[in-house]
Amino acid sequence: MTTYNIALLAGDGIGPEVMKEAVKVLKLVERRNADVNFELNDVLFGAVAYFETGKAFPDETKAACDKADAILKGTIGLNHEDSQKIPVDEQPERGALLPLRRRYNTYANFRPVYLPKGLANFSPLKASVVGEGIDIMLIRELVGGLYFGEKETGVDEQGRRFVREVLEYDEDQIRQIVRVGFEVSMKRKKVMHNIHKSNVLKSSVLWNAIVEEEKANFPEVEVINILVDACATYLCLKPTMFDVMVMENMFGDILSDQGGGILGSLGLMPSACKGPEKSYYEPSHGSAPDIAGKGIANPYSMIGSVALMLEMSFGMEKEAKNLWDRYARRI
Ligand code: IPM
Ligand code: MN
Repeated sequence: MTTYNIALLAGDGIGPEVMKEAVKVLKLVERRNADVNFELNDVLFGAVAYFETGKAFPDETKAACDKADAILKGTIGLNHEDSQKIPVDEQPERGALLPLRRRYNTYANFRPVYLPKGLANFSPLKASVVGEGIDIMLIRELVGGLYFGEKETGVDEQGRRFVREVLEYDEDQIRQIVRVGFEVSMKRKKVMHNIHKSNVLKSSVLWNAIVEEEKANFPEVEVINILVDACATYLCLKPTMFDVMVMENMFGDILSDQGGGILGSLGLMPSACKGPEKSYYEPSHGSAPDIAGKGIANPYSMIGSVALMLEMSFGMEKEAKNLWDRYARRI
């Protein structure tokens, strides 16, 4: 019997209701696999944690995550008005989500933009553009760049307010995510789009140099370098030309939401955030406070995240595939 301990971070808004569906799926998988046992540990995270304990990422939650084999997260965040009731540094994005990413150094974020033909009607794109379906693995660096760089706000000598945010990467950080891109490409179509902005950003110049160096270790993979702005256009015009895409944090934040737009909803985009020792899994969408509690939130993205967890953390590839196939068919 193998026991997997999973920390469940349901969070805010629709988080608890989509998590409930994820738990049903886990129970089903457990029933079907007599030798597997899931130990589920429900803990507070996000605004709900702040209101109960004064901390968006309480120590008890940290301890539960530390001992878990994997972390399954729902959604966090409140509407703009309610957010203002929480001090800036404890607001769930800054106070819980980014610290979670940092704590486990979850540098590799996988966001599959997957639209099988059966779901093509969800996409706002024409049937001729969707073709036989879209199947992109968008890989986003998740713990570096602008998100985690030094930040300063102040008033200059002329009395003007200013802000300074630093985009920083070192070659090791770039290399580790680029390698993930190559490794995933080897398992798929051996074509990798490298997203950059080297005509303006020096960070992209270094990034591209590392891609070039690493290419020597993966001679079978074809690398296609594409500027981030052009990439945004091609994602709409010809999404089927992409397979694996690799990019830095901020580009990935934006292009993955565009991926959600192509699918017809971020509700169709699960995600996996992988660190050297621990990974966490979460839907890419927000907490949708406007529909919370109405029982109409689509758990697809949450259930897709369970599939990613089964595959990537527990090596249960067959069950993961099963889930994708069944769920995608039924919807
Ligand atoms: C995402 C989200 C987060 C991000 C926010 C909630 C901090 O938009 O996971 O894409 O910007 O990374
Ligand atoms: Mn985002």
